Amino acid sequence: MADVVAAQYEKWIYPQPIMDLAEYCGKGMTDGVAPHYLHPLFWPDGEYERREGRINILVAGCGANAAARYAYQHPNAQVTGIDLSEASLNHERYLQEKHQLGNLSLHQLRIEEVASLGREFDFIDSVGVLHHLPNPEEGLRQLKTVLKPNGVMGLMLYGLYGRVGVYMLQEFFHRLYLQQTEGDVAVVKETLTQLPKAQLDRLRFTELTYDAGLVDLFLHPIDRGYTVESCLNYVESCGMTLQGWIESRLYYPEGQVQPDTVLWKMLNLLPEPERWKAMELFNGGISKHLFYVCHQERPVHSYRIQFEDEQFLGYIPRRRVLRANQPEPASIGNWLDAPATGSDHASLINRLFSLIDGQNTVRDCLEKAALPSSSPEQITKYVRQVFQTLWRMEYVMFNIPTA
Ligand SMILES: C[S@@+](CC[C@H](N)C(=O)[O-])C[C@H]1O[C@@H](n2cnc3c(N)ncnc32)[C@H](O)[C@@H]1O
Repeated sequence: MADVVAAQYEKWIYPQPIMDLAEYCGKGMTDGVAPHYLHPLFWPDGEYERREGRINILVAGCGANAAARYAYQHPNAQVTGIDLSEASLNHERYLQEKHQLGNLSLHQLRIEEVASLGREFDFIDSVGVLHHLPNPEEGLRQLKTVLKPNGVMGLMLYGLYGRVGVYMLQEFFHRLYLQQTEGDVAVVKETLTQLPKAQLDRLRFTELTYDAGLVDLFLHPIDRGYTVESCLNYVESCGMTLQGWIESRLYYPEGQVQPDTVLWKMLNLLPEPERWKAMELFNGGISKHLFYVCHQERPVHSYRIQFEDEQFLGYIPRRRVLRANQPEPASIGNWLDAPATGSDHASLINRLFSLIDGQNTVRDCLEKAALPSSSPEQITKYVRQVFQTLWRMEYVMFNIPTA
């Protein structure tokens, strides 16, 4: 099976090759799990800033572009890309030469043999790879052996429910004995023109636009889909901790469930992992789980963001890069309890948000915003809810001051 996977990526280079990284990155493309814009999520204790991005990055299963893209976007980092496909690595080499990426080294190597590099990494990206391994547990365990004690991995595993249409068609094509020939890809394309609307609606993937994408989507010999529960079990069974979801808005009721409902109250009574599992079922469309993991031994206080006590007042909020079409931060007001000050949510949230500059703590924001309130307890409760919701809905990340 592993050989079939290798043969596929040798013939069908994936993803679609980027021809110019300056142009690609200039479009504001923020890729999956990259530390250059997500480092406060991974190292809230400020480790990345202190080192000015001088970290060692491994891109495991880099495909045609990702290792070069990392080297380009992280000029202070040393980037290593490994992949079993020489054809994909050749395109990485093209990008390396074109953009003079002296901080990149590339190796044809299986993840299962990564220890043979004899190096350790601060950050490991493995996006869209581990679910294609004959033994995904073995893959993650091997990556763990080359992750430094405070290192972080950014992973993407396919979402079972959001790919239900893909899995039906994979089985459909399997029943027709399709392989990975050009002729079989033509049959896939023909099928897509015939599908009923309900089935087509389940297939909103960029991979539909090019042949290697169609092979990856529908004709892959090994492709496992994961639920929230199976992601958690997978990470734990490999001796690691799931630190957080990168697209956290998908795993919380805020933004998805009306707050004036019984359902809202019930969901908010669930403990954290149960709420994530429930929201995945409610959402139904999560086709990719993007998340970050670390060693179980890593000190929890150095990375865990929580709003259970007053510690959040000392956090330093930082703005996240907004997604295209992400609503204004003030829109989170729909999911907050009434401020009981007579003021509207929008003006209070905008005042707080305008004070987020990467220096002010939440307490500074609270004091400088001078929000109207009848009591300090009441306004602290409101501010707690604002920052928790901004965090869940991907408007802010936090630094936890260490001193
Ligand atoms: C779906 S692509 C993802 C590429 C890249 N991570 C990205 O997000 O653009 C999967 C890649 O993993 C590589 N791959 C699959 N199994 C591998 C293994 N056991 N060891 C190393 N690379 C592997 C394939 O050759 C392919 O290039």
